[in-house]
Amino acid sequence: MNKKTLGIGLIGAGTVGGGVIKILENKAELLFKRSGFNLEIVKAADLDTDKLISLGIDKTKATNSADEVINDKDVDVIIELVGGTGIAYEIVEKALNAGKHIVTANKALLAERGEKLFTLAEKNEVAIAFEAAVAGAIPIIKAIRDGLSADTLQCLLGIVNGTCNYILTEMISSGKSYADALKDAQSLGFAEADPTFDVEGNDSAHKLTLLSQLGFGTSPDFTKINIEGISNLSLEDVASAAKLGYKVKLLAVARPINNQLFLSVHPALLKENHPLANVMGSMNAISLFADNAQESMFYGRGAGEMPTASAVVADIVEIARSGSSDKIKSKWIPDAENTYDIAPMNDYHCRFFVRFTVSDGFGILGKIASILGEKHVSIKSVEQNEANEARVPIVILTQVAKEGNLREAVKEIEALDFNLEPAGILRIEE
Ligand code: HSE
Repeated sequence: MNKKTLGIGLIGAGTVGGGVIKILENKAELLFKRSGFNLEIVKAADLDTDKLISLGIDKTKATNSADEVINDKDVDVIIELVGGTGIAYEIVEKALNAGKHIVTANKALLAERGEKLFTLAEKNEVAIAFEAAVAGAIPIIKAIRDGLSADTLQCLLGIVNGTCNYILTEMISSGKSYADALKDAQSLGFAEADPTFDVEGNDSAHKLTLLSQLGFGTSPDFTKINIEGISNLSLEDVASAAKLGYKVKLLAVARPINNQLFLSVHPALLKENHPLANVMGSMNAISLFADNAQESMFYGRGAGEMPTASAVVADIVEIARSGSSDKIKSKWIPDAENTYDIAPMNDYHCRFFVRFTVSDGFGILGKIASILGEKHVSIKSVEQNEANEARVPIVILTQVAKEGNLREAVKEIEALDFNLEPAGILRIEE
């Protein structure tokens, strides 16, 4: 290997892999100036080698064997774009043991099985770079790790799944059905191979795990994160929220309170003038509050071929610039600064939107109000429209309340004979 060449091994030639090949080819000169190296794909693997060739990889460099890439002595950095937590784990583990740096967009792998891999990277003095794994082209990893290194984060709210944000936007603004909006998101290349990961909130939770690791210096147990997706969201509730001046967004939320950390992915109401409420379509945004920097918001494309490929290539440039293993060690391995317990959501405090669906009758509103009051849930507003008398939706916005109390009250109300349907509960984030 020529000292001026950084040998790249690409494993996985899906949407993002294709984008990486294009950028490395089209911007070779600029990337050389910026990194000091020729960034050259010396070996690329995909089960479908014809695909690699159609993307412009020379036949002699295309293989269907990941091992061939890992064992190539001219490969310095491996780009893992296989996805998932199975084969991808084995590939990354072998590559780290072979002393190769890793660049990956695989949030599931790092969120669920990252601890061992980071330890292995540290032992072998190589990097695991994962800017592309969280919010695609938004340099949020670098922003938290480097830009806010003098700060302590106090709150993180993020729209980090483009598929869900696209679906919600299309359903609300264009009246598209959930199924059609999801199909569009898939054909636009935002959605995961299995889109249940998107719509059920797992993808956002993977990203939240990685952001919390950097932002709060802790290694949260992914399985303890509260995850609620958008597939059961009622359009009626979304429309009622809109009438009251709120938009519904799927949010990833991290809030530390004393030594506890609330980590949750859930659909939430945001006042329509909240900056995150106006993040539309497949766009992502992360809003942070830090002790010194105070509020900041990062906005951009979180998915798609070229935006995600841009983050992958930027990580390669950064590895090229990092130089010595000492620098790599301090830069890439998240520090365990704090041990937070992941707090149960029943201890969460916020305002709530609650929709009861009841039959028409005497004193029903009074009964609902008194049960809420007994559980220390104070009502801020009530909306009951003149509608079908057989089915009356009542929408209540509460003051800040403890979630456990609110849920106990709702359970009690749902058991009463005037209640027709399970209540709709949405948190209001401020
Ligand atoms: N499927 C993800 C999204 C993109 O829709 O945001 C990759 O993280």
